[in-house]
Amino acid sequence: MGNLLSVCDIKDDVYEILDFAKRFKNSQIDEYPLKGKSLAMIFQKSSTRTRVSFEVAMYELGGQSLFLSSNDLQMGRGEPISDTAKVLSRYVHGIMIRALHHRDVEELAIEAEVPVISGLTDLEHPCQALADMLTIKEHKGDFNRKLSYLGDGNNVCNSLILISALLAMDIYVGCPKGYEPDLKIVEEAKKIALKNGSKVEITSDANLAVKDADIIYTDVWVSMGDEAEKEKRMKDLAPYQVNQSLMDLAKDDAIFMHCLPAIRGEEVSSEVIDGKNSVIIDQAENRLHAQKAVLYFFLKD
Ligand code: CP
Ligand code: NVA
Repeated sequence: MGNLLSVCDIKDDVYEILDFAKRFKNSQIDEYPLKGKSLAMIFQKSSTRTRVSFEVAMYELGGQSLFLSSNDLQMGRGEPISDTAKVLSRYVHGIMIRALHHRDVEELAIEAEVPVISGLTDLEHPCQALADMLTIKEHKGDFNRKLSYLGDGNNVCNSLILISALLAMDIYVGCPKGYEPDLKIVEEAKKIALKNGSKVEITSDANLAVKDADIIYTDVWVSMGDEAEKEKRMKDLAPYQVNQSLMDLAKDDAIFMHCLPAIRGEEVSSEVIDGKNSVIIDQAENRLHAQKAVLYFFLKD
């Protein structure tokens, strides 16, 4: 039994999961492979894509999902994570959780007797990264590419760094000092990239980061949980806005990606996110296909 808390948890399986995702998208996998299975979905933070794509994925795979807002669970009133994990394991076949703190998800996974899948924590967003790679493969054909991530070195960025290294895709992160991605993750990704012959570069030079890129990616400057720092973040991250002049430094056919939700006029200009090179809606759709692949991989018998 495995868990998906970090992209590192699928080091040896990433190609297989992406292949499942493609096959689900093309309706090439038997109907209802998760018939009779239930997924508990605990949310400590808001969600549109993650909630809906997991819920629809379980339904279309023949199972069911239970949306559990942490405010409505006894967990929200202080019931220990360990009791919650053990009790839910007696009812359901898997637990998906979107949590404030990554360490809580690690504890849940230790105590649970069923697979635990992260739907985002403060450290990583592995399911998003899988959908992103499916989107890149569809639009670019291969991973022999340069991906540039601009802005806050956050959860989405951390998972992108790891998955890029695993797939031997060059990744350049352009961010101001103090907003770098997680140091341990960068070290781990550099080790993987060295073996795979690709690059992981972190720079404060936005122009260098996007030069000749095939894919430009950004995310919000104020993630859920960072609201108190809003004013400072707006100021510090302003030079990293993805706008047309930055896009002009990338390849002519470079695509623009964003995990959404986005704030036009902050991390990205309307011209870019709503422009012809933006693939954000394909990317959002691919959450559904990637989610099916993840559920199939972790929950099938
Ligand atoms: N990208 C993403 O995880 O979106 P939601 O917060 O809407 O789930
Ligand atoms: N970095 C964002 C991603 C939302 C999907 C956040 O954590 O709020």
